[in-house]
Parts: sequence; structure tokens; C-alpha cells
Amino acid sequence: MTVYNFSAGPSMLPEAVLQEAARGLRDYNGSGMSVMELSHRSRQFVQIIERAEAALRRLMRIPAEYSVLFLQGGASSQFAMVPMNLAQSATAAAYIDTGNWSQRAIAEAKLLSRAEVIASSADKNYTYIPRDYQLAPDAAYLHITSNNTLEGTRFGEIPSAGRVPLIADMSSEMLSREIDVAKFGLIYAGAQKNIGPAGLTVVIIRTDLVGRPARNVPTMLRYDVHCEARSLYNTPPCYAVYVAGLVFEWLEQMGGVAAVETLNEIKARALYDFLDQSSLFSNSVARADRSRMNVPFTAPSEELNEKFLAASEGAGLLTLRGHRLVGGMRASIYNAMPLAGVQKLVEMMQQFEYENAGGKHV
Ligand SMILES: Cc1ncc(COP(=O)(O)O)c(C=O)c1O
Repeated sequence: MTVYNFSAGPSMLPEAVLQEAARGLRDYNGSGMSVMELSHRSRQFVQIIERAEAALRRLMRIPAEYSVLFLQGGASSQFAMVPMNLAQSATAAAYIDTGNWSQRAIAEAKLLSRAEVIASSADKNYTYIPRDYQLAPDAAYLHITSNNTLEGTRFGEIPSAGRVPLIADMSSEMLSREIDVAKFGLIYAGAQKNIGPAGLTVVIIRTDLVGRPARNVPTMLRYDVHCEARSLYNTPPCYAVYVAGLVFEWLEQMGGVAAVETLNEIKARALYDFLDQSSLFSNSVARADRSRMNVPFTAPSEELNEKFLAASEGAGLLTLRGHRLVGGMRASIYNAMPLAGVQKLVEMMQQFEYENAGGKHV
């Protein structure tokens, strides 16, 4: 049975990438060594990391004045690195609170510097993206979580921050849609959704922001150190960088970000169109703010949610359980999820609805 993995992360990787990664695991390019055994200072690995960076730059059209970093520590370390490096002046950093991951970023910023929440959608349980806020022109930066993995919302339009550097946690949507990197001061993402295996964190930073953080910022947490060493200050997550490079090249073969974005729109529409006419399942996110990557939905009772989850497991539709803070179900449909997986999910939901609601309102 073909299985489809709807996990929010770590999540599906493209089949072609897994096959190539399996070859490299045994013998990298006829070297007789596993790609995991290559020294990070070796010519082979330096080629791997440079190739990965070049492919990412082509895919996202990253301007020359931005550095690309391949780090460890997850997106969660960026919650601290951003304020440690960019908010050390007297002016507060501004945050838009759109859910669980924004809150984590805000909590960390408050530990380390002055941070102000200038807008929040907490009043409606994070089911929308706030649009009304005042951004101080001298704010250290404006931080957004561009796609909210748990709540299933996204910034359809990227806010304009004027001269204030815009910082985005794009963990659950980087490379899934076209964005203009030049609008941002810094973009970061944990890799384990659209990029590759867990263990790698990608940071794209405009070089004028790299600057010199306060003296007491530990070496490993300084952007200037990693930029100068081109991500090789210490041992990088070598294997994850290798697989991410394969994912980037797979994406280029698919036609690049624009092509995959069109496919992502088709996948998301198939699921939302079904949800909008369903008499059993629902999604409570404001339509204009719906994520194309993470689609939460619920049946009318806990019992039906559990029954659906058990039935979907049996049908090879895996990891559909919603995050423990949100409950219900969540389908994460990142770049590597084929349309056939989403179609199978919709068919399964239709069948379940027919059997459990008789096509009528329950
Ligand atoms: C939007 C977002 N930010 C941050 C994180 C945390 O990432 P990490 O586990 O890499 O620290 C996640 C993880 O799911 C996420 O979805």
C-alpha cells in the first residue's frame, strides 16, 4: 500500500531525493566513503555545501548582498539569535503574534532585549492574521511568523516594514511560494519541512545587519562568525546539508518555486474546497489567511476525530493528528506531498462523511 505522510515535520521528502541520498549513504560519488563520513573540511564536502548554497540562491533569487547560512540549533535557536544580534540597541523590537511559534519567539526576545507585541490574533484563537498595527519607525526590527504551522494561517501578503528590517520565521513555508527576499532583513527556517532532514537551520541575512553584536554574545550564536566562516566555523550538519542540496536540485528540476507554488495552490484548493462544502468536517481559519502548507480540520466530536484518525491510518494516510495544543486533525501538505496524496485524503474524508453523517448535517 502506498502511504502518504501528512506530518508537520519532520515530514515527507521527495522519493527521488531519498533514492539518491541512499546511494550517497553507501558510497559518495565513487569515493568509497559514505557521504556521512566526509570531513567537513574535505574538497568533496566543500563542493556539497557550495552547490547547495548556489542552488538555493537560484531558487529564491537571493540578492548578492545577502549571506546564506547553514546552521544547527533549529528555528528555536533563531528565536534567541535574532534579538541577541539585532536588538541590542535602546529601541524595542516589534513582534506580530500569530500563534504558538510567534509566542515562543516573543518569550525568547523578552528574555534578551526589549520586545513589544504590536499586534496579535489571540482574541480569536489565532484564526486570522492581524492587519492593524503601528510600527515605530525606529523599531530594531519587525518579526513575523509567515506561516503558522499549528494554527494553519499565513501572511498572504508580506507586510511592509518601511526602513525597519523585516525578520520572518518561514520554517513551514520556505520554498513553497515565491517571495521577494529583498523585502526582508533576515529569513530563517528549520529544515525539517520543505528543505530536508532535521538538524539543519537555514538563515538568509542581509549583510549590513550582520554587524557586531554585544561582546557577551557567545561565539556560536553570532551571525558575523558564521558569515565569515561561510557556515564552516565548526562542524555543520553535514548530512542534512547534503540532503537539502538534493532537495534544492529536485525543486529546480520540478520547474523551481513558481512551478511548485502552482502545484501547492492546486493541492490546498482541493482540500479547502472539500472542507467548505462538507457537512461533517470544518476549518475555522479566515479564508483570506489560510495556510497552503498546514490545513487543520475537525469533525464535530472527539469521538469522530478519533474514529477518523484510526480509519485514515488504516488507509495509509499517516500522521494526521493535530498538534496537541489544537487537537483535531491537520494535513501538512508540503512540497514533497504529491497531488495524489491530497486526492486520496479527500476521497477518504468523503467516504467517512458519507458513512458518518449520511451526507447530512450532524
Ligand atoms: C513556524 C515554526 N517555527 C519554529 C519551529 C521550531 O523549529 P525547531 O524545532 O527547528 O526549533 C517550528 C517547528 O515546527 C515551526 O513550525
